Amino acid sequence: MNIRTATPADIPSLLQLERDATTAAHWTLEQYTNLFRDGAAVRRLVLLAETEDVPLGFLVAQHIDTDWELENIVVSSAERRKGIGARLLRPLMNTARQSASGSIFLEVRESNLPARRFYEKAGFQQSGLRKGYYRDPPEDAILYTLDVRKTIQS
Ligand SMILES: CC(C)(COP(=O)(O)OP(=O)(O)OC[C@H]1O[C@@H](n2cnc3c(N)ncnc32)[C@H](O)[C@@H]1OP(=O)(O)O)[C@@H](O)C(=O)NCCC(=O)NCCS
Repeated sequence: MNIRTATPADIPSLLQLERDATTAAHWTLEQYTNLFRDGAAVRRLVLLAETEDVPLGFLVAQHIDTDWELENIVVSSAERRKGIGARLLRPLMNTARQSASGSIFLEVRESNLPARRFYEKAGFQQSGLRKGYYRDPPEDAILYTLDVRKTIQS
């Protein structure tokens, strides 16, 4: 399994993986295209996990002020619980370690227990709740934060 920076040519793969994961954040083609527009790359991390050109998962993160926001992470349903999500998270943690705050934050649906367990295993801690944050269906968001400087570097 290989993890590399995604390119515009990977957009169909990102969309396919995301469409197959109901609990993932859902974006339009335009939003994916904007990830790669001029200048956007300096404050984004878009990583693709693949094996022999078969896409297995991806991660999108954005540098905001001194922090990194994990915007989406998806692993193909057949490939979950094999450590791919954790492997995708590692380069983001290493990048965030060099940022001013060394912090990664994210929001997740309260009911998305697999993702919450995944984030907690990685060391994220609950740092807030956003009432009615999500629509279709309406739901609260749990905010998680990780100070990567308190984690062991890998
Ligand atoms: C969240 C997600 C990316 C995790 O990816 P993954 O490759 O399956 O995760 P890993 O195999 O690296 O799991 C690492 C650890 O996280 C925890 N974990 C992951 N999935 C879990 C689950 N379903 N239940 C309980 N714990 C889980 C475990 O501690 C696991 O370690 P273990 O397998 O040794 O017990 C994946 O479940 C997914 O794509 N979900 C759908 C999309 C989604 O909801 N994304 C989040 C949007 S906010």
